[in-house]
Amino acid sequence: YEIEYHDRIASTNDRARELAAEGAENVVVVADEQTGGRGRLAREWTAPSGGVWASLLIRPARPPAEVPIYTLAAAVAVARASREAGADARIKWPNDVLLAGEDGEERKLCGILTEMEGEADRVSWLVVGPGVNANIDADALPPEATSLRAAVGDVDRRVFLQRVLETFYDLTSADADVETILDAWREHAATLGRRVRIDTPGGVVEGEAVDVRFPGSLVVRTDDGDERAVHAGDCEHLR
Ligand code: BTN
Repeated sequence: YEIEYHDRIASTNDRARELAAEGAENVVVVADEQTGGRGRLAREWTAPSGGVWASLLIRPARPPAEVPIYTLAAAVAVARASREAGADARIKWPNDVLLAGEDGEERKLCGILTEMEGEADRVSWLVVGPGVNANIDADALPPEATSLRAAVGDVDRRVFLQRVLETFYDLTSADADVETILDAWREHAATLGRRVRIDTPGGVVEGEAVDVRFPGSLVVRTDDGDERAVHAGDCEHLR
């Protein structure tokens, strides 16, 4: 892959989509600062100078049904690189990376915005966009967020991104086993074993998170003892 670096850009995901429309592939767009960073569910994403704002443009060989594994793999990659930097990073389903503060509160270190285009049986392009609050003061971020600077001090962002990309491409290579990605995710999970409330398109699901299942669904044991696989939604850790 090739890296395209910007000091400042509206959104690295927008730029990666533009490159996709031009026919590019295997490009990683990186910026120091974003002026129009986008989050999931049409939310805004605060992205001041000092972050690792990146978007990976890929044309995956895997079918559309397997696309969620790319986001899981990116979350694992960020969690691993953060741990190497000394932070006790864990993943909240499906793909937020959290750090627990000294007060025990979990705060968000990284979110990932994945976008794609394709048909039923073929993915034309995929953009996986992790945003890591790296060398940023916590007070420049929303209250529910934290940064590597606040937790462990500044990191070398080149090295950090390199490690993220190595893990990501290794986990998602064409011959890699999906179960390996799920195992790596389980290893870094904050959500498994916790009581959760998930706001899904089909209503609220509450219970104990017991496992993650292909292609990235969360298995929740509800209070009546049923197990349900939840495919999408906003997850809250209740305890
Ligand atoms: C979320 O948790 O809502 C996802 C946040 C994703 C933010 C990243 S920063 C790099 C990339 N470019 C964007 O505009 N968004 C993603």
